Amino acid sequence: MEQKKEERIKITAPMLIEMKQKGQKITMITCYDYPFAVMVEEAGIDIVLVGDSLGMTMLGYETTLPVTMDMMIHHAKAVRRGLKHPLLIGDMPFMAYQASVEEAVRNAGRFMKEAECDAIKLEGGGPVIPQVKAIVQAGIPVMGHLGLTPQSIFAFGGFKAQGRSGMAAKKILDDALALEDAGAFAVLLECVPIKVSEVISKRLTVPTISIGAGPFCDGQCLIFHDMFGMFPRFTPKFVKRYGSVYDVVVGGLKQYVEDVHKQVFPEEQHGFKIPDAEFQQFLDLAK
Ligand code: KIV
Repeated sequence: MEQKKEERIKITAPMLIEMKQKGQKITMITCYDYPFAVMVEEAGIDIVLVGDSLGMTMLGYETTLPVTMDMMIHHAKAVRRGLKHPLLIGDMPFMAYQASVEEAVRNAGRFMKEAECDAIKLEGGGPVIPQVKAIVQAGIPVMGHLGLTPQSIFAFGGFKAQGRSGMAAKKILDDALALEDAGAFAVLLECVPIKVSEVISKRLTVPTISIGAGPFCDGQCLIFHDMFGMFPRFTPKFVKRYGSVYDVVVGGLKQYVEDVHKQVFPEEQHGFKIPDAEFQQFLDLAK
C-alpha cells in the first residue's frame, strides 16, 4: 500500500484482504534485526516477516530446522523495536506447532505477548489445519505457507519447486482453500509454478503472497539477505538483486586493513585531546 510518510497508517491483517479486493499489490520482506528493521520501516513495506530463514541467513545453519522459539523471539523483539507501520509476523519454527494444537497456540501466543508481533505464519496444509483454527480462535491472525515449505526439506529431497504435476498442483490448491476456510488471512506460495499460483490467487478471497510463485499473486515477498547479496552460499532463481551489501562491506573491510597497515588510519580527527597542562600533570604523576 503506497502511503505518504506523514500519513502512514499501521497495516493490519484485515487491511490486506481489502487491498486484494482493490487490486493493490502487497509488499513483504523478511527482517531479523533492529538496524534493518529501521530501514524497512523507512521504505514503506506492508508486511515484515521474522522468518525462520534466520537460521540460515543470520546463524549459518544449513537448514531452518535447528531454529527454536527462543531464537525467534529474540530476533522478533529486535525487529519490533525498529518497526511501527508494517504488519509484523513471527514465523513458527520447526516443531513449534506440529506436535500438538495446544503447543501451537502457546507458541503463537509467545510471539504476540513477548515480541509484540501482529500475526504468525506456519507451514503446511491438511495436517496443520486444526492448529490454524485454534490459533485463529485464540485471536491471533495466521498466514499460511504452501509449496516449497523449507521445514519439510528432507521430505522434498532438497530446495525444489513444488506443484509441477497436475496432482501436486491440485493438492496445493486444496490446502490453500482449507487454510482460507480455517481462517488464515493470507497464504504465502513458495516456488509454485506461475500458472498454478494464478489459479489459486483467483480462487481465494484472502491474498496470496508469492516468493518465487510469479506475478499473479496478490503480493510479493523476498528474503532480505538474498535481495542485497548478503547470503553468499546460493541465490535462488526467483530472486532479484537490489544491491550488494556483501561487496560494499568486503570492499570497506579490505580498505580498512590497508589503511591500518599503511598507517593512514586513524588520523588526527579520529582522536581525543588532553589540555597541555593536564598532560604535563599526567607525565609528572606517571614518573
Ligand atoms: O522463513 C522465511 O523467511 C520464509 C520465507 C519463505 C519467506 O518463510
